Amino acid sequence: MEVKLVQNLDEISILRIAEIHKLNYPDDHLTSHFTLPLLCDYYSNIAELSDYSIVAYYGNEIVGFAFLGRTFESVLPRLVKNNKNKIFNFALQKPAIVFKFFLNKAFSGVYHLDSASNIRLISITSDRKYSKLRIGTTIVAKLEELQAQYKLDVGLSVRASNIKAVNFYIKNGYILEGFSKGKLFMVNKNA
Ligand SMILES: CC(C)(COP(=O)(O)OP(=O)(O)OC[C@H]1O[C@@H](n2cnc3c(N)ncnc32)[C@H](O)[C@@H]1OP(=O)(O)O)[C@@H](O)C(=O)NCCC(=O)NCCS
Repeated sequence: MEVKLVQNLDEISILRIAEIHKLNYPDDHLTSHFTLPLLCDYYSNIAELSDYSIVAYYGNEIVGFAFLGRTFESVLPRLVKNNKNKIFNFALQKPAIVFKFFLNKAFSGVYHLDSASNIRLISITSDRKYSKLRIGTTIVAKLEELQAQYKLDVGLSVRASNIKAVNFYIKNGYILEGFSKGKLFMVNKNA
């Protein structure tokens, strides 16, 4: 397996990334309920906004990925703005999930975290079909190379209910910076 920094992701790669997300993300994430076309748009946005796109290949097949960026707050607003029809259809198909998402947003207030990070990690994901390859650990090793090279202190948020991911981050040296509304905020400082 090889983990690479990729400059441009073509449509086929984005589709494969969306498929891996759909099959491997926990159910309590809004995005795991997106249709594949909507997830492709979601990842096209992420790829455009990311400073570093990291992709794991097993032969020619994509088996995992992660994105580092400084402007990911605009991923969902951009997705909604540019895909009104798909979002509207999604809301019609999954009204309870969308209602719960907006209810949480409306009543959650704003959490201000004085983070030690200077870049965010989103969507690190591996295809569990290849769990023997230790894809997540290998992606983190690549992130650490980038962190050392570009002086990156990586921050992330993860649901406390996502026990596998939380333990994975702890095992890989991420430390807790804050907690709010079921989410942990963690950081890994460049060594
Ligand atoms: C979180 C995630 C990226 C971790 O990637 P992964 O490929 O499962 O990670 P690895 O296989 O490298 O390691 C995971 C675990 O398996 C263990 N493991 C795997 N293969 C192993 C081997 N050959 N020998 C020993 N341990 C092994 C690791 O030590 C680690 O242990 P743990 O289960 O006690 O935590 C992955 O589980 C995932 O895609 N989750 C869904 C998406 C998600 O929730 N992303 C995070 C959003 S915030």
